[in-house]
Amino acid sequence: MNNKKMQVKYRCPSNIALVKYWGKKEGGVQLPANASISWSLSDLFAETTMIASTEAGSKLTFTFKGESKPSFEPKILAFLERISEYSEFVKTHNFIIDTVNNFPHGTGIASSAAGFGALAMCIADLEGKYENDSVEFLERASFFARLGSGSACRSVYGKPSVWGEHPEIDNSSDLHAVPFEKGIHQSLSNWKDCVLIVDDGEKKVSSTAGHALLQNHPYATARFKNAQQNIVKITNYFQSGDVANFIALVESEALQLHSMMMSSIPYFTLIRPNTLAILEEIWSFREETHLPLAFTLDAGANVHLLYDKQYEIEVSNFINNKLLVYCKNGTYLCSNIGGTPHKIA
Ligand code: DP6
Repeated sequence: MNNKKMQVKYRCPSNIALVKYWGKKEGGVQLPANASISWSLSDLFAETTMIASTEAGSKLTFTFKGESKPSFEPKILAFLERISEYSEFVKTHNFIIDTVNNFPHGTGIASSAAGFGALAMCIADLEGKYENDSVEFLERASFFARLGSGSACRSVYGKPSVWGEHPEIDNSSDLHAVPFEKGIHQSLSNWKDCVLIVDDGEKKVSSTAGHALLQNHPYATARFKNAQQNIVKITNYFQSGDVANFIALVESEALQLHSMMMSSIPYFTLIRPNTLAILEEIWSFREETHLPLAFTLDAGANVHLLYDKQYEIEVSNFINNKLLVYCKNGTYLCSNIGGTPHKIA
């Protein structure tokens, strides 16, 4: 074994699911109970520098923005351990990792998706098994990212990403995400996402714990079936440009996700009164203006306001006039949709 040190840096966007992953298959590692589909958020990203070496030392030295973060280490070590099973390179190297997000940590934005996505890209690159613009490379990075956090596997593609086996999605897999290749109607191809920060505190129930509650959930089977059907519908809307049905489906998915939380045993809620206040404002605004905008939620209280970019001014006025009052410290973060991870020189 040579004692070379190798270094690489990647930027990887976060993503927001439109049809949600909520529940894992039993008997595997991070296998989704249903297929999900997401948009990546090019302007909310993590940048990770990784140095791999075979020199003796600890398996992992981790810093966040140059500062040591011992609380992050167990999760990353567990991630490396999981990957070791599939990668001789990871098994035989030690890693020095520094990562930084361009959005504040603890805003409830899926920082793990961007973070594990960036880590996975670095590993797949340093491992050197495939050319880094090949399909195999992206699938391998997505596979690795999944082992860190399921939703992270959807962050490696600029196109909408589907993760989870589905009879109508070519090459779909539980092991890694695939890009949705069928083309998007122009009425759904230029949207934005503004994340309205309702709560920036630690979540009461982690996503991982929430997923586990699907195992004995009274509505799990129906939910998984409905999500599979919703994948068919949303991909049809993508192609036909049926914005009204797209909006209805995306909002229904968000509310289904949270109703699954509320009907878990034990039950819990992550939405807050201000979350609901924002949803009601969005419904009223849409009724008045007929503008194409929708909300979605991830596993937290914050609201993702999705809208067609051509109405940027109207939506920005709406946020400032009506929604800011419900946001913690008036904070919201906006991003374009799309964006692939890329290597930084
Ligand atoms: C509600 O990917 O965070 O955001 O796989 O246990 O790390 P683990 O969970 P995670 O779950 C995300 C759930 C979600 C929906 C989604 O992104 O599809």
